Amino acid sequence: MALQRFPLMMGLLLLITIVGSPANADGPVCPPTPSSTLSREHFPEGFLFGTATAAYQVEGGVNETCRGPSLWDIHCKKYPEKCNFQNGDVAVDFFHRYKEDIQLMKNLNSDAFRLSIAWPRIFPHGRKEKGVSQSGVQFYHDVIDELLRNGIIPFVTVFHWDTPQDLEDEYGGFLSDRIVMDFREYADFVFQEYGGKVKHWITFNEPWVYSHAGYDIGKKAPGRCSKYVNEACPDGRSGREVYIVSHNLLNAHAEAVEAFRACTKCKGGKIGIAHSPLWFEPHDLQDAQDGASIERALDFMLGWHLETTITGEYPQIMIDIVGDRLPRFNATQKKKLINSTDFVGLNYYYSQFSNHLEKPDYSKPYWKQDSLIHWEEKSVLNQSIGSKPLTSALSVFSGGFRKLLKHIKHKYANPEIMIMENGYGEILGDKDSVEVGTNDPNRKYYLQRHLLSMHEAICIDQVKVTGYFIWSLLDNFEWQDGYKTRFGLYYIDFKNNLTRHEKLSARYYKEFLSKGIRPSQIKRDEL
Ligand SMILES: *[C@@H]1O[C@H](CO)[C@@H](O)[C@H](O)[C@H]1NC(C)=O
Ligand SMILES: *[C@@H]1O[C@H](CO)[C@@H](O)[C@H](O)[C@H]1NC(C)=O
Ligand SMILES: *[C@@H]1O[C@H](CO)[C@@H](O)[C@H](O)[C@H]1NC(C)=O
Ligand SMILES: *[C@@H]1O[C@H](CO)[C@@H](O)[C@H](O)[C@H]1NC(C)=O
Ligand SMILES: *[C@@H]1O[C@H](CO)[C@@H](O)[C@H](O)[C@H]1NC(C)=O
Repeated sequence: MALQRFPLMMGLLLLITIVGSPANADGPVCPPTPSSTLSREHFPEGFLFGTATAAYQVEGGVNETCRGPSLWDIHCKKYPEKCNFQNGDVAVDFFHRYKEDIQLMKNLNSDAFRLSIAWPRIFPHGRKEKGVSQSGVQFYHDVIDELLRNGIIPFVTVFHWDTPQDLEDEYGGFLSDRIVMDFREYADFVFQEYGGKVKHWITFNEPWVYSHAGYDIGKKAPGRCSKYVNEACPDGRSGREVYIVSHNLLNAHAEAVEAFRACTKCKGGKIGIAHSPLWFEPHDLQDAQDGASIERALDFMLGWHLETTITGEYPQIMIDIVGDRLPRFNATQKKKLINSTDFVGLNYYYSQFSNHLEKPDYSKPYWKQDSLIHWEEKSVLNQSIGSKPLTSALSVFSGGFRKLLKHIKHKYANPEIMIMENGYGEILGDKDSVEVGTNDPNRKYYLQRHLLSMHEAICIDQVKVTGYFIWSLLDNFEWQDGYKTRFGLYYIDFKNNLTRHEKLSARYYKEFLSKGIRPSQIKRDEL
């Protein structure tokens, strides 16, 4: 089957025409290179490339290691239609096959791998006093050791959405401020356990998605929202819980970072949050208000959880609009939040047009309305943003990636940025097969374009990006989309014992990474 191809000449676009930027004391130093196809060798020395996953999306082994139930287990059991479950709870069985999968990473010439720790595998009932699973603790030691043995640097996410169900039952999980100290206890435990060998940490993955999708529109677990947002939500209060959950999450982050910085064996490590904003273009170029709405959209999507970790306060625009629905930090909390990250983690997928909203109805509040924005697929002139192949889950617009990186550089005082996720999802539907799924020129094209935009951001705009992770190593469980949206560089044959098959995009990444010097080959004293 021929998938829709992009109507562009790929080779042409991938030539680097600039000659590497001169050395600059404050910015990245890009190697001077003649024009050639983009590869690892055009990036600054020491730049890390890898792939990313999350425990719930790949592990399976739900009844191994005395693992307790998580928020997503119960959500998917209660509402199988909200998880598009077709394959039981095996995910792609990384739990049993991690050695095989680490060989796949090695085959790609990866420098690093991002995984998350499933909280219910460590504290099956959410708190240490209720028991620690030693075999759960050992499982992550085994994975980390296997990565290190293979020369792959582990990046570990402390929380990628698997809240222990017992804490949901006891006090509503992140709806209660009781989560703050429970989270600190858990985070401190994993820092003490793995901090000697793991030097790159992410406290929270996509806080915006966790609170917005879980507590404002009900799309992801625990599926809460007001009836006026979605009739199907069994419970919830849109425009209120979303801010409470993020408030508790931010305090939990700050507590975890305090524990991290007090952890002796963690010295030399870095910690941050993985944010997931879209980029926005004006819906109507002639309308100044649409242009102005972009800054507001980004403050609500990104500043909400990023500015807060720098200044200890929410963006002023959120305080002004959300008013008393937005909880406030007290002096102790503020102090802990200020300067509570070492780098900005960024997950970038796609962009939308931003149309300003004229008449909000604050009797029915919800997050998107608070930002006074409509997201639009098409501009007022009926133009699309980037391109969208038929089977693509989202539009493809790498220009938004570069603009977002520039925005973060300028707005947040030129921080170190690591791309913790970037990737292409496709829905093959009836046509799905090993043959069709492994022939993925659209994913290869997506990656080429985004790597090039990132290169421009680094070498022309001088944005301090130091790492890049593709979402994802393997096709996996995509939350509410179940297994039907595939993001992997390796195809999973769900009909045949979950066998892994290399896609065209995997061969591309491997080729890209085979050029130049791997960070692991740089001798310490040369750095
Ligand atoms: C895990 O255990 C639960 C409860 O005993 C059971 O319902 C489920 O089928 C088990 N899942 C697997 C994959 O073994
Ligand atoms: C801020 O709130 C936290 C959590 O309730 C509390 O422990 C702390 O003492 C408070 N600090 C101040 C200055 O009120
Ligand atoms: C922020 O924290 C880092 C790491 O602990 C420290 O090196 C730096 O001096 C701090 N910056 C400010 C402005 O407090
Ligand atoms: C917008 O463009 C699409 C094709 O991209 C076309 O099918 C549609 O009719 C157009 N709509 C308007 C209002 O021009
Ligand atoms: C399924 O794959 C696993 C892991 O590669 C392997 O150990 C097992 O033997 C396979 N089972 C069958 C029936 O092929």
